[in-house]
Amino acid sequence: MHGMENLSQLPIPLLGWYQTHARDLPWRREVTPYRVWVSEIMLQQTRVAAVVGYFTRFLEAFPTVQALAAAPEDRLMKLWQGLGYYSRARNLQKAARQIVDQFGGTFPTDYQALRSLAGVGEYTAAAIASIAFGQPVPAVDGNLLRVAARVMGDGTDITTTQGKRHFAQVLQAVIPTDFPGKFNQAMMDLGAMVCLPNGAPLCEECPARDFCRAREEGTVQALPVRPGKKPRRVEERVVFLLFHRGKVALRRRPARGLLAGLWEYPNELAPAEGALAAWGITGQPAFAGTGKHIFTHVEWRMTALRCDLPEETLPAGWVWAGREALAGTYAIPSAFAPFQALVEEGLAWAR
Ligand code: ADE
Repeated sequence: MHGMENLSQLPIPLLGWYQTHARDLPWRREVTPYRVWVSEIMLQQTRVAAVVGYFTRFLEAFPTVQALAAAPEDRLMKLWQGLGYYSRARNLQKAARQIVDQFGGTFPTDYQALRSLAGVGEYTAAAIASIAFGQPVPAVDGNLLRVAARVMGDGTDITTTQGKRHFAQVLQAVIPTDFPGKFNQAMMDLGAMVCLPNGAPLCEECPARDFCRAREEGTVQALPVRPGKKPRRVEERVVFLLFHRGKVALRRRPARGLLAGLWEYPNELAPAEGALAAWGITGQPAFAGTGKHIFTHVEWRMTALRCDLPEETLPAGWVWAGREALAGTYAIPSAFAPFQALVEEGLAWAR
C-alpha cells in the first residue's frame, strides 16, 4: 500500500527518540488503569499543559475509582472548573459507578468492556488498553493521524469515519506488540513537539526524517488532508453583573446542552432589552466591559453590564455569591473569565 513501507520503518527509531524525549507527565510516573483513564478523559480536546494541574488535584481529591463514584456533584464540577467540556466530568463519574456496580470495582481490561463505559469511545478505550494493559491497539487521535499521513505521504481525508478507519488499519499493522503504550504515547509526543499541526514542523529533529514521504515529496504542509470545516456560529450576548452588598447574582444553566448544570452570571442574547424587568429586577445597568469566548460550535461575543441592586430579591433558583462561595462552591465556566476582575471589584464592597 502507498506509504506503508515508509510507516513500517517508524517504530524502532520512534521508540529510541521517545527514550530521550518523552515528556515527564504525572500520569506516566505511576501507571495505573485509573490514572490513565482520568488523564485520557482530561486530555480530550485539551492541551497537556492545561491538564497537568487539574490531574494532580483530581487524583488528590479522588484517589480511587470508589472515591470518584461517591463524589458529591458540586465538588466534582468545582475540580473540573476551567477545563471545559463538562459532560466529560459527569461521564467520568457515571463510568466510575459502572466500574463499581458492574465490574466489582476493578477496571475492565477487555477493549469491548472498556467501550461500554460512559464517555469511553474508540480512542480512549485504545489508549487505556495499550498504555495500562499492554494491548497492541493504536490510539488514533489527531497526532497519530497527522504523523501517519505525513510519514506515508497519504492524502486520505482524516475527517471521515472511513479515513480514520484507514489510518487505524495501517497503524494496527505497524504497532509493536511489545511496547504498544510507548508507541502510542511516542506518536502523541512526536505530534505535539516535532510533527507540529500549525506552523513549520521541526523535520530535522524527527526520527522519521530519512524516510518521511511527505518530507521527500514536499507535501508536509498539505498533510493531513482535512476539507473545510463548518464556520462557527457567532452569538452576541449581554452579561449582567448584578451586585448587592458585596455579593454577585448567579443562576444555574439548564441540565442539558452547552455548559449544562454550571453556574453563570445571568446573560441573554443581545440586545437583551427588558431582561431586568422580565426578571423583576430594578436597577440602572452601566457598560462595564467586553469579552469573547470560543467554544467548539459557537463563539460568544459578550458585553458586560454592571448594576448595583437596591433590593435583595432575585428570581427563583438564583443565588447571591460572595467571595468565598464563588471561590469554593460554584463552578463558573471559563467563558466568563474576561469579567473576573470586574466581579472581584464588585465584591469588594464595604471592606
Ligand atoms: N494526549 C492524549 N493522551 C496523551 C498521553 N497519554 N500523553 C501525552 N499526550 C496525550
